[in-house]
Amino acid sequence: MINIAVMGYGTVGSGVVEVVNTNGARINQRIGDELNIKYVLDLKDFPGNPVQEKIIHDFETIIQDDDVQIVVEVMGGIEPAYTFVKRCLQAGKSVATSNKALVAKHGAELLSIAKENEINFLFEASVGGGIPIIRPLNSSLTADEIEEITGILNGTTNYMLTKMFYEGADYDTVLREAQANGYAERNPEADVEGYDACRKIAILSSLISGQQVDFEDIYCEGITKITVEDMTYARKMGGTIKLLASSKRYAGNRLHAIVAPCIIFPDHPLYNVNGVFNSIFVHGNVLGDAMFYGSGAGKLPTASAVVADVVDAAKHLNRNIMTMWKQDKLHLENKADSRRRFFVRMKGDAEEMTSALKDSFGEIEMIRIPELKEEFGFVTPVMTEGDYEARAGIYRDQILHMIRIEEHKG
Ligand code: HSE
Repeated sequence: MINIAVMGYGTVGSGVVEVVNTNGARINQRIGDELNIKYVLDLKDFPGNPVQEKIIHDFETIIQDDDVQIVVEVMGGIEPAYTFVKRCLQAGKSVATSNKALVAKHGAELLSIAKENEINFLFEASVGGGIPIIRPLNSSLTADEIEEITGILNGTTNYMLTKMFYEGADYDTVLREAQANGYAERNPEADVEGYDACRKIAILSSLISGQQVDFEDIYCEGITKITVEDMTYARKMGGTIKLLASSKRYAGNRLHAIVAPCIIFPDHPLYNVNGVFNSIFVHGNVLGDAMFYGSGAGKLPTASAVVADVVDAAKHLNRNIMTMWKQDKLHLENKADSRRRFFVRMKGDAEEMTSALKDSFGEIEMIRIPELKEEFGFVTPVMTEGDYEARAGIYRDQILHMIRIEEHKG
């Protein structure tokens, strides 16, 4: 029998128990042994719920029980999750977690402790919910230099932007719906400000570079400033707006990473990724393009990935299978050097401004929405972000919003 403990009985933790109860027979067959949830650690009691007989309140019970070989950490946050996970690994217990904050901050150290102890620290559910992406990067795509990862990595914001685009729905209503569906973080600021996607792209960047990429170093812009008017311009241009998290290789091992809402067009592989779905586009130097698509948030998709990690840990009880990344930090490329086109909304009269704007930005493309009489939009030619900022500086008081354009180089 393989005994596991689940730390945290919230949305994902209850999903983990449900997955094991629902698919237990098949899971046991795949492991070749019987999986048993021995403990569920939580601060609360759950009277009337069958889980109650497994509920414990003291972490030491797990650490002191040599029969517990695998621990699931689905509490979220850094502490006490970090201390608990570290102690589990040091005690020779493999850990499966969905906790992106923990992996983004302490992944390198926890991977290295797991390796020293010939056990595993697995975190498939920390990026893309139920979509396999960590395991493919760790095992299937190891012949490649990964040159680009661009993903829709947050289900809440993709759900919101999809509803805003197709239904003209307002921001607050769609956020409430996402929360009611169990997609959003406890503090939805993490979703809408892009912090959640930022931690996820930091994890993927660390994996593909083999070095620590700190999420604090990644430029991060959320969707809180995206308006119905922005969507109207995007639609008029034949595109849509998506919150993209991207990491692209420049010379050598240098990466340019960014999280920002971007206008994309129908030829972009991520254009049709709608609702709570996530998708991750990967370009490898020998593979070419690959896409991973699926349920990116929610109780059961996330629990599915956690339990799959438990199965992997159970099949490799005394053998470390994860690729490491070094604790020394990777210095990212300067945002100012990245090149793209920019969409700009500006107050004023398009006819009067065109000539001055051409002098400043070069061959711009004007976009007008007849109902929006006090403003207009334009698209710049390809330029570096540093150049854009320098040129836009003189129009600071007139610029209403700038949205980056992400083109697919197919
Ligand atoms: N709040 C996250 C999302 C949950 O909406 O994608 C999955 O990490």
